[in-house]
Amino acid sequence: KRPAGAPSPGLAKEIGKVGVVGAGLMAGQIALMFARRLEVPVVMTDLDADRAAKGLAYVRAEIDKLEAKGRASKLKAAKLRALVSASADKSVYADCDLVIEAVFEELQVKQAVFGEIEPIVSDECLLVTNTSGLSITAMASKLAHPERLVGMHFFNPVAVMPLVEIIATSSTDEETLATAYAVAKKLRKTAVGSADRPAFIVNRLLGRMLAEVTGAVDAGTPVDVADVSLDKLGLPMRPFALLELVGLQVASHLTTHLNEDLGPRFPISENLRRLAESDVPVFDAEKQGKGRLTEAGRALL
Ligand code: 3HC
Repeated sequence: KRPAGAPSPGLAKEIGKVGVVGAGLMAGQIALMFARRLEVPVVMTDLDADRAAKGLAYVRAEIDKLEAKGRASKLKAAKLRALVSASADKSVYADCDLVIEAVFEELQVKQAVFGEIEPIVSDECLLVTNTSGLSITAMASKLAHPERLVGMHFFNPVAVMPLVEIIATSSTDEETLATAYAVAKKLRKTAVGSADRPAFIVNRLLGRMLAEVTGAVDAGTPVDVADVSLDKLGLPMRPFALLELVGLQVASHLTTHLNEDLGPRFPISENLRRLAESDVPVFDAEKQGKGRLTEAGRALL
């Protein structure tokens, strides 16, 4: 076991350019946060130019919102627009000091990503995974330099959620870990160290909470009764609103992983699976973010 806590901050490396693998929702949010807080160039890549352009358009729209709300001055917003770029060409990682992946949550996909980018990046470049609970040790086992891999698990919405889980494997070196903690501080996140175990800390808690709610629905409890407000317990969102935010497919995928890794304590909900696989909208778009089911969504339960 590693000693608890962060190594000496003096060991941390300077980060002058960041790469983000993926240009989806989490990737875009992560890219913007790094540009905003580290004030360094950030480049995202995706499988093709179209996806890369979509990711960049999302980041630009978020920058517009920050400016409109007065969270970023006109000058700062212009700087942010200049700092974030997107490409379909992974050679852009050659001069990065840190590359973080936020691609599909599947071990083989993440291993393939690192296998592709490790030969491109410099020897000093940190490799970071935003996995929400896959084995980082298994990702490290495929690397030529496993000592530079570390987990930094951010939460949705990245801009406002205060926490980041930092996960070292037994191979992660002290410089890498110190850099992860120093970066988290610059990002103004509260870092919590976790052992490399399935679903780390937070997703085990959330997984159990959401499993109790979807389990109640599976057992015949009406959604309105199961979907109670838990704000007095420090949980700001109703469970179905959280499911909408996380995404039904992601949540369903997560419960499958938890069930495989941790057994029946983390049951799979048939209703959640059915909602996730529906090809008609199950959440009311007019009440976006409230976790309100449409008639079609209710009919699936
Ligand atoms: N992107 C950027 N900013 C956002 C945002 C988003 N998607 N959603 C909300 N915000 C900002 C708002 O713009 C607002 O900023 P402002 O003060 O500058 O106007 C601020 O957050 C507060 O938002 P609101 O006033 O609209 O609403 P609330 O006060 O209800 O807060 C919330 C919204 C922060 C999302 C809050 O409901 C919350 O904390 N919910 C819990 C979310 C959660 O548990 N996330 C974890 C999901 S699990 C996960 O990510 C792990 C993964 O591995 C599955």
